[in-house]
Amino acid sequence: MIPIVALPDGTNIPALGQGTWQMGESSHEEQAEIAALRAGIERGLTLIDTAEMYAGGGAERVVAEAIAGQRDKVFLVSKVSPQNANAKGIERASAASLRRLGTDVIDLYLLHWPGRHPIAETVAAFEALRAAGKIRYWGVSNFDTAEMESIAALPAGGQCATNQVLYHPDARGIEYDLLPWCRARRMPIMAYSPLGQGGRLLRSKALIAVGRRHGVSAAQVALAWSIRDGNTISIPKSSSLAHMAENVAAAGIKLSAEDLAEIDAAHKPPRGKATLEMI
Ligand SMILES: NC(=O)c1ccc[n+]([C@@H]2O[C@H](COP(=O)([O-])OP(=O)(O)OC[C@H]3O[C@@H](n4cnc5c(N)ncnc54)[C@H](OP(=O)(O)O)[C@@H]3O)[C@@H](O)[C@H]2O)c1
Repeated sequence: MIPIVALPDGTNIPALGQGTWQMGESSHEEQAEIAALRAGIERGLTLIDTAEMYAGGGAERVVAEAIAGQRDKVFLVSKVSPQNANAKGIERASAASLRRLGTDVIDLYLLHWPGRHPIAETVAAFEALRAAGKIRYWGVSNFDTAEMESIAALPAGGQCATNQVLYHPDARGIEYDLLPWCRARRMPIMAYSPLGQGGRLLRSKALIAVGRRHGVSAAQVALAWSIRDGNTISIPKSSSLAHMAENVAAAGIKLSAEDLAEIDAAHKPPRGKATLEMI
């Protein structure tokens, strides 16, 4: 069973989903990407994260193929790019995303990162889309605490469902203030690049040692770590059936206090405020 996380209105969504950055970039890879996404959906990773920016819309097209015939099983997340985040731009961008995704509603629509358009205009446009039934929820991505405060100050600010941010054992600055800020408002965060993009993080001696105790890989430990607080949705990307199976199984790993202490010793929690990291 995949653990669940509650949105601020109490709606439950899976704590582990699937990312799609770098999908849709090559026609040779496309069938493998679709197969991996479908295998993930079948095993409960029914939250899919994409963006208009990924492969210039190509990732949304891959997602459309993967969810064809099973749209109702999926919680679909997409993102508008900041340059499109004014009233007219959002209307156009969301219509294009809906078309590419082959659906008439996006479950959660995020502003990809803060941009030059006033956030009040973006939020008003999100609310208009919600009223029109084109999106079910809206949120943001790569917003630091002060930027979250400016959303909370808006009349419809309380409707913000999530903030999607970089979060893994080597990028845990959000634990200092952003994570507690969100938790106090019952707003889950979405952890992107939870595997550190498959690089150095997965060679961490601590993650490997913890994994050895559980008979699992460092990647699986990183995923179990990312969703350990019950308030985080983690969205690893995989185009490999073998990795996908591992990632699904990671949902069942319970890290002990000893495991967490070993990870903390090697990947230190923040001691003060740092600028929000993003990629
Ligand atoms: N909001 C934002 O600004 C933002 C920024 C970055 C990412 N994101 C979202 O977050 C998602 C995830 O982040 P990401 O794609 O940057 O990085 P990630 O999920 O941390 O890492 C993906 C890499 O890890 C590999 N991998 C997957 N499962 C594995 C496993 N079990 N063992 C070993 N390697 C494994 C993948 O290769 P295979 O494909 O071969 O498995 C891929 O190379 C993105 O796809 C995107 O949807 C959002």
